[in-house]
Order: sequence, then C-alpha cells, then structure tokens
Amino acid sequence: MSIISLTEEQKMVRNTAQEFMENEIKPVAAINDKEHRFPKEIINKLGELGFMGMNVPEEHGGSGLDYFSYVLALEEISKGCASTGVIMSVNNSLVCSPLKTFGNTDQKLSFLKDLASGNKLGCFMLSEPEAGSDVASMKTTAFLDGDYYILNGTKSWITNGAEADLAIVFASTDRSLKHKGISAFIVDMKTPGINIGKLEDKLGIRATSTAQIFFEDCKIPRENLLRSEGEGFKIALHTLDGGRIGIATQAVGIAQAALEESARYMKERKAFGRPISDFQGLQFMIADMATKTEASRLLVWQAAIMKDQNIKYGKQSAMAKLFAAETAMWVTTKAIQIHGGYGYTTDYPVERFFRDAKITEIYEGTSEIQRLVIARETLKEIQ
Ligand code: CAA
Repeated sequence: MSIISLTEEQKMVRNTAQEFMENEIKPVAAINDKEHRFPKEIINKLGELGFMGMNVPEEHGGSGLDYFSYVLALEEISKGCASTGVIMSVNNSLVCSPLKTFGNTDQKLSFLKDLASGNKLGCFMLSEPEAGSDVASMKTTAFLDGDYYILNGTKSWITNGAEADLAIVFASTDRSLKHKGISAFIVDMKTPGINIGKLEDKLGIRATSTAQIFFEDCKIPRENLLRSEGEGFKIALHTLDGGRIGIATQAVGIAQAALEESARYMKERKAFGRPISDFQGLQFMIADMATKTEASRLLVWQAAIMKDQNIKYGKQSAMAKLFAAETAMWVTTKAIQIHGGYGYTTDYPVERFFRDAKITEIYEGTSEIQRLVIARETLKEIQ
C-alpha cells in the first residue's frame, strides 16, 4: 500500500477497523443514509473497540494509541460510511482532544473517561448563524454570576448536536476583546436552558445529526471553564489543527471507496463487446483517481506523524484537508462518470460518496480557510 511501514499495533488497529467496517458498517450505510438514521449501535460498538477515544491515555478511559493509528482506523471506518467517520472524528479530535490537552485533573476525571470509553458522546460548538469562518465574531455570551457562568446564544451546524451528552462550547466572556474574549466551557447537554433546534436536512452525511442549539440563561458550573477566560480562541484553533487531519482522513476514506467501486465496476461492465476497463480513456481516469487518493493519504500521514512527534503541523494539516477534500470531490465525480446512468442512481453507492464528499470542503474550515492558513505559513517561512 505504501512505503511507510506500520508497527504490529498499527496493523492490528487497521485490520480491526477494516473488519468491523466490512461486517457491521458497510451493510447498513446506504439504508442509514436514506432514512437519516443515526448509527447509535455502531457508535456503541466503536466505543467497545476503543475507537472513540483512541489517543486518550488508558487511565482516562482511552486506548492510549498514537494519532497515526487513529487515522488508519478512521480511514477504514469512513470508507464504509462517511457519517460514522465524522461522528467518530468529532468525538476523538474535537472533544476528547481538547479535554486531554487543556483540561485539569478534575475535568479529566469527571468528563474524559466516559467520552473516551464511548459511554458518552461529545460535540463541539463553535459555529454560529453569523460566525462560520470568522469565528471571532461569535455572539454567544457567558458571564460569571457567583459560582456559575450564564450562557446565552445560538450555535449552528453542530455535528452530533442532538445526540451528544457533553459539549465543548465557545462563548464570549468579553465581547469588547473580540477573539481574546472567547472562552471554552465543558457543558452537560442535560443542563436546563439548552434547547435543540432544527435538525438540518443535508445533501450528504445524512446519518449524522446536525443541529442548531439554543442557550437561554443556561447555568454552567464555574469549574467547567477550560483553562482560563480568554483562552477559548486558541483552544478552538489548536483543536481544529488536529480535527482537520480527521476530516482529511474522512475524505481519503470516501475517495478510496469511490476508487474501489469504480475499478470493480469497470471490470464487470461491458460496452462494445468488451469490459470498459479495456478502454484507455477510463484507464487514465482510474490512474488519476488512484494517484490523487494516494497523494492525499500521504499528506494525511505526514500531518499525523508530525503531530505524534510534536512537530508544528498546522500548515500540513491544512494542506492535507485541502487536498484530500478536493480529491474526494474530484474522485467521486469521476466515479459517477465511470458508472454512467447507474452512477446517478441509488442502485450504486457512488452517488452517496459524491454527496458525502462535498462537506469535507466545508466543515472544520472551508477550503478557502485552509488556503489562507497555508499561505500565511508559507509566506512566513520563505524569506
Ligand atoms: N493554534 C493556536 N493559536 C492560533 C492558531 C492555531 N492554529 N492560529 C492562530 N492562533 C492565534 C494567533 O497566534 C493569534 O494569537 P494572538 O492574538 O495572541 O496574537 C490569534 O489566534 C488570532 O489569530 P489570527 O489573527 O490568525 O486570527 P484570524 O481571526 O485571522 O482567524 C482563521 C484565523 C484561520 C480565519 C480562523 O478563524 C479559522 O480557522 N476559521 C475557521 C473556523 C473553522 O474551522 N470553523 C469550523 C467549525 S467547527 C466544525 O466544523 C465542527 C463540526 O461539527 C464538524
């Protein structure tokens, strides 16, 4: 598959994920997508396999594995079902990760164990109706009243929003300070004052729940503040650096699935008395699909290895997400073309891959935001 050799542990993780995907995820992916059904049983089983908090130390309920193992597993899961992939990715990289990195001992003991072991599910509430790419302009506020912060505001497009037990919520504790006034809170979703709004009816990843969430005088214990007031913006961006590797991995999984379906179809489908895989026009298409998918995977692996080695990886993570997301979109478009009329119907899975691919160019930072991050870093580096 690649020149990068995997450890026995990494091979085991990938094989476990692959087997679970083939047996439990792939058979139900199309129906869950069609019926907008959140794959609760599958997520519970992913928890039992240790896949919901893969990088959290064992003493805090996780599997204590490296980030590279996480991307190996996540690619396989996303290959079977991109919805399942992002549910797993959000819990691992947007919820467990900031708790592991920025939480104090009490917070880790109180919240991380259940999330990392899969007993509870998390979500990450950053975006708002008028604050997507421009996070610093968020309007949700939190003010301290005795031993509680009082949260008010609206969060939008929250993956796992309606299913989550716990959330990392970003709110401004001082709007005059713009991004320096943003703080991060650990919020129990059963807290009075939290209301789940509309569930989005989406183009793709239809087995996920994507919700709008309202906070109305919601009282959060003061000890649930992550780090200190004003550190929220950096916590969010630091977390997203890692999260973007997860979304890039999801995109690689989607592209790989589309590539494999297309190659199999080309060998079966006949036209002009021959399998269509005999035609050079389609061979060139499959060659480009395979090459772009492999290049995306290598960018993902590079970013994951850098993260594991504590090397600054924000630019590489943005590159991986940008390239893998655009590759997933391109590869799935070609996959439909190869399948012809059949590809445009739900009889084959490539139309689902195409719909699922689009979101990877949008969430956890649009492709334009990734280009902005890459350009800033590149211009800083080259004197
Ligand atoms: N890590 C830590 N700190 C960082 C950072 C990083 N990667 N990048 C920047 N910072 C710091 C800077 O050092 C700076 O600190 P000081 O104020 O101390 O100097 C501060 O943050 C502000 O930095 P910028 O001036 O660069 O900030 P900006 O306003 O220009 O924004 C941005 C930068 C790249 C546009 C950023 O806002 C961004 O990434 N936006 C996209 C948001 C996003 O990805 N949203 C996704 C929603 S989550 C989601 O999709 C979840 C889901 O459910 C799947």
